[in-house]
Amino acid sequence: TKLAVFASGTGSNYDAIVAATKDGTIDATVSLLVCDKPKAKVVEKAEKNGTPMFVFDPKQYKNKAMFEAKIVEVLQTEQIDWIVLAGYMRLIGETLLHSFEGKIINIHPSLLPAFPGLDAIGQAFDAGVKVSGVTVHYVDAGMDTGKIIAQQAVNITEDMTREELQQAIQQVEHQLYPATVQKLITRGE
Ligand code: GRF
Repeated sequence: TKLAVFASGTGSNYDAIVAATKDGTIDATVSLLVCDKPKAKVVEKAEKNGTPMFVFDPKQYKNKAMFEAKIVEVLQTEQIDWIVLAGYMRLIGETLLHSFEGKIINIHPSLLPAFPGLDAIGQAFDAGVKVSGVTVHYVDAGMDTGKIIAQQAVNITEDMTREELQQAIQQVEHQLYPATVQKLITRGE
């Protein structure tokens, strides 16, 4: 099984998934990193790991359909089975959705449908909720709206800072995402 990880930022989830493919938690390989930010930290990480990359600047393309068509071409050349979004800060368009129907998943740092969109951790913290968490879901055309696959709660204690909440959420992400990817690929869907 071949995975493509899509990321725009730091890449801690990319790292966790790569580590899981190496220690046998995930029975697959990360065969491609797709990144829309040439200067992102995740690009350096993938260089170190030797993960093949498709790094692009969206401004060099006329529109989303154009760069997604290029991405689909690369994914097909690499014979990718699953697209794993890990901090890819763009909505997926119809070109990718149609070519990889039911094979695109995302991780979001809240218990969806609560706190979709940007800075979900900050949104939860500011709302003063006592429980937030992490959601893995299928990707559709909406913003964090696809069918939920897995969730894990994180308690927000009285004395917790925003930074501590972020750390707690990330720790959960780095376990839950690899475990969920493994379940999906062994189901053979
Ligand atoms: C994660 O919190 C993920 O839930 C969200 O974007 C963040 C990516 O972090 N979609 P990283 O780049 O994997 O460290």
